[in-house]
Amino acid sequence: MSIKAAGRTFFLETKHSLYQMKADSRGVLKHLWYGENTGQDMEYLLDYPDVSFSGNIYDAQDQRSYSLDTMPLEYASEGTGDYRISAVSVCHENGASALDLRYEGYRILPGKYSIPGLPAVYAGESEAETLEITLKDTASDVRVVLKYGVLPEYDVITRSAVIMNDGADTVMLNKAHSLCLDIPYGSWEWIHFHGRWARERNPQRLKLLHGIQESSSIRGTSSHHQNPAVILCKEGCSETNGTCIGAALMYSGCFQAQAEYDQLRQVRLVMGIHADLFCWELKPGDSFYTPEVILSHTENGLQALSHQFHRVLREHVCRGKYQKAERPVLINNWEATYFDFNEEKLLKIAEGAAALGVDMLVMDDGWFGKRDSDTLGLGDWSVNKEKIPGGLDGLVKKINGLGMQFGIWFEPEMVSEDSDLYRAHPDWAIRIPGRNPVRSRFQLVLDISRADVREYLFRAVSRILRLANIKYVKWDFNRSVCDWYTESLPAGRQKEMPHRFVLGLYELLDRLTGAFPDVLFEGCCGGGGRFDAGILYYCPQIWCSDDTDAFERTQIQYGTSFFYPVSAMGSHVSAVPNHQTGRVTSLRTRAVTAMCGSFGYELDLNTLTEEEKEEVKSQIRAFKEFGPLIHNGKFYRLSDPYHDNYAIWQFVSEDQKETLVQGMIFRSEPNMLRSPVVLRGLDPQKKYCLREDGRVYSGSALMAGGLLLPETSGDYVPVEFYLSVSLSH
Ligand code: GLA
Repeated sequence: MSIKAAGRTFFLETKHSLYQMKADSRGVLKHLWYGENTGQDMEYLLDYPDVSFSGNIYDAQDQRSYSLDTMPLEYASEGTGDYRISAVSVCHENGASALDLRYEGYRILPGKYSIPGLPAVYAGESEAETLEITLKDTASDVRVVLKYGVLPEYDVITRSAVIMNDGADTVMLNKAHSLCLDIPYGSWEWIHFHGRWARERNPQRLKLLHGIQESSSIRGTSSHHQNPAVILCKEGCSETNGTCIGAALMYSGCFQAQAEYDQLRQVRLVMGIHADLFCWELKPGDSFYTPEVILSHTENGLQALSHQFHRVLREHVCRGKYQKAERPVLINNWEATYFDFNEEKLLKIAEGAAALGVDMLVMDDGWFGKRDSDTLGLGDWSVNKEKIPGGLDGLVKKINGLGMQFGIWFEPEMVSEDSDLYRAHPDWAIRIPGRNPVRSRFQLVLDISRADVREYLFRAVSRILRLANIKYVKWDFNRSVCDWYTESLPAGRQKEMPHRFVLGLYELLDRLTGAFPDVLFEGCCGGGGRFDAGILYYCPQIWCSDDTDAFERTQIQYGTSFFYPVSAMGSHVSAVPNHQTGRVTSLRTRAVTAMCGSFGYELDLNTLTEEEKEEVKSQIRAFKEFGPLIHNGKFYRLSDPYHDNYAIWQFVSEDQKETLVQGMIFRSEPNMLRSPVVLRGLDPQKKYCLREDGRVYSGSALMAGGLLLPETSGDYVPVEFYLSVSLSH
């Protein structure tokens, strides 16, 4: 039993952590603790002074120290004297927004709850338990059901809320966050992940200052610019040591994560759908389901936190055949040809790649309608016969004949004004009546909050997938959304549109992944603009960034790895000079970096020298050999590529019998002292043999002294060590 109720105190226990809350005598649900498992009721820590200008709820009577403005709350509302950021806000029929939530009851259920229409962590009855706590407003029939999913073996607790209107009047929901987490003590910092197109997920660690710190997106996607995942860590927390709490929102649209450091030096973290672009009409009897937040805590530093997230995302979020199956090594023609390709060119690329051992050809943007550039054609999902005269089936048969599988690119949610789809259905594009829409990459966004638009897209994509033996789909989304307006809702409900858009995306992905269970879906959004736990529920891998430069990728993949597993990061070897940065790195350096992901190529391999082709063959052999270790092993960040002169990372198998260390040294210097890189996660008692030269090292030597990085000459020098338990020692 991971959930226990002692009276009205609730203990949620995982292997190493404890989450605790209590409904007090007034029915206020107070948060007591989220941290290491103390095995104790932690209420003794809550002892509040009379803080002037922090008012008292009426039933506190003359107890001036009892204020909702100061105490840690489990789900903060508005209008009852808590002036910190709220998690939920409503507008009643009379225009008032107060919500005074008090405890009504609880249920403990076996297994993990699911959420209608939204992705959520899934788990069997032996792996998880659910706690539901119901709160009710004192003056209306608004109820909130707080849901907690506990996965004890994973040190994971999920949260989600259901807001229900059980009254006779309509209520407008102005804010419905998924998480409210109050932390009364300690000196906390927060890490969030910012960026821009082709430069995603740079970690930034800041001390929390009084006031509110925010990480959010109003772009209709989780965005390149901020990621819906944040870490709170105690001062001094390092990769290997210290207290930290991670929160990842399983949501792919406009989101908001805010941390408030309050007058009493307490921290409140709220997270959920962005309140500025949200309002939901709750008619009598209606319920609203928030997306889910995955929470995890550890005392063992950031690396342990990442392991916890990697594990739960791989094993309880990703689904389908490719959750476990080896991912194909693919070649994508985008950077090889851009829009300028035809069947002949594709076949040449495929032939060259097949000869070197590549498993799959992915035909990227440009195969449909009149799409010869990014100015036209989106929405016309039928094969361009001028480029592919034998049709899709003809092409795929030829590719299959080379012993390769075939994959295809779509950008279903978009439309070009110069397209047959737009000419037939101009009203399907998002725009505000009487205003010109904002164009981005010359394209408009389809209103997938509408069922008829989704039906069209389901049929259009399905038709193509049935035309030929297609085993992979790259699902792209190449702009931010703007001009929020839908013809399907009345004026007073337009703010439902951003969330309905995301629900529409999930419904479409659910239908398509369900109808084509053998197809590997890779998420994409101009690279990593929709890299979030919500997408991972449908697509086990996501194109990590449009920046394919190996040096830049060390930083992007490093930042991505704080929450997301390596198996989720699409990563390719591309041509040099690199198309985004002009940088030249060796083929080996590019491969080592791309192997820290779901591996592939994105160049015409026919342009390589014979020697380079042999190198590619051995890279593919290496990825096939190391693939299971890379994708299922534990991933360690051995350096910080933003500060060190090298990026080094390590994979360790679950049984600790093998380890792969990879990375690159950025710059060489004259008379350079070779730095040792200290390994982690090994068995100190075991002896490991370095494949390169057969030398044997003890696990404890490798984890205390480490291995010397190679001598270098030139820049971006690749590093690779493979060690396995030596049987002869
Ligand atoms: C996005 C993707 C690229 C490529 C192009 C095609 O930018 O991230 O990989 O597919 O679109 O237009």
